[in-house]
Amino acid sequence: MSYDDPGYVSEQYRNASNLDARVALHERFSTNRRPWQRWVFDAFDLPGGARIPEVGCGPGNLWAENLDRMPEGWNVTLTDASQGMIREARDRLPDDGRFRVADAQKLPFEAGAFDAVVANHDLYHVPDRGRAISGMSRVLGPAGVLYAATNGRDHDREMGPMLRVLFPACPDDDYPQARVGFSLENGEEQLSRLFGDARLLRREDSLFVAEVGPLPDYLVSGPAAHDAGRAGEVPALAGLLERELAARGGIHVTNDTGMFVARK
Ligand SMILES: C[S@@+](CC[C@H](N)C(=O)[O-])C[C@H]1O[C@@H](n2cnc3c(N)ncnc32)[C@H](O)[C@@H]1O
Repeated sequence: MSYDDPGYVSEQYRNASNLDARVALHERFSTNRRPWQRWVFDAFDLPGGARIPEVGCGPGNLWAENLDRMPEGWNVTLTDASQGMIREARDRLPDDGRFRVADAQKLPFEAGAFDAVVANHDLYHVPDRGRAISGMSRVLGPAGVLYAATNGRDHDREMGPMLRVLFPACPDDDYPQARVGFSLENGEEQLSRLFGDARLLRREDSLFVAEVGPLPDYLVSGPAAHDAGRAGEVPALAGLLERELAARGGIHVTNDTGMFVARK
């Protein structure tokens, strides 16, 4: 099963619970004190009145976490293929927001309608990425910019052995990044057909997990549990992790993330 398997993606994101489990771990244990969604927003260099869709917005965390510094007049439309995610985004954001259920492969917007498109950890879930990237290029004006965030191959490297304790059938490359089709390593090549200038901003970050806390929920929130057809092993895993933490004093986890800033 790959990260762009439609059955996995629709089950994984039928609501925000799996994503929330992963966000909770990062909020608690990231060594970079600048939160991820603040870091993404820091990169935006856009005019007043900018028109921006987020593609694959999830529960709207990017905007919820930056509401205090949204420039006057920006016109943001949140889109996601999941009805459940759009419902949660409506709940987390002010009433006057714009929300739309839409597939990244069939963006329901006119050509040249936007100054920027945001795809924040979305493209690796899209089976026909070529179609999605050309749709993003189509809806951008000539000076438009695509912000496409994703992970690199080392992201969460240390989670693999922990998952294999829980799910022995989990193959070596199962988790996390070997099967990610849009990554920090291969993203520029995929964008370059339509975006002549794609710069990669890399984020310095890692996790230092000092107590078990949300780690078991994180581990069962992803594809390994989905492949195994079960996610009910949290108590057993928590015990193993308690012993590991007591012996090592903490678990370091690599965070390999970043964002392409791409112009036509
Ligand atoms: C990892 S979450 C990221 C959510 C959000 N951008 C964030 O940063 O919190 C990926 C999101 O992409 C959405 N998604 C997956 N495939 C999609 C598609 N083909 N079109 C639109 N959204 C999609 C999922 O429903 C999910 O909400």
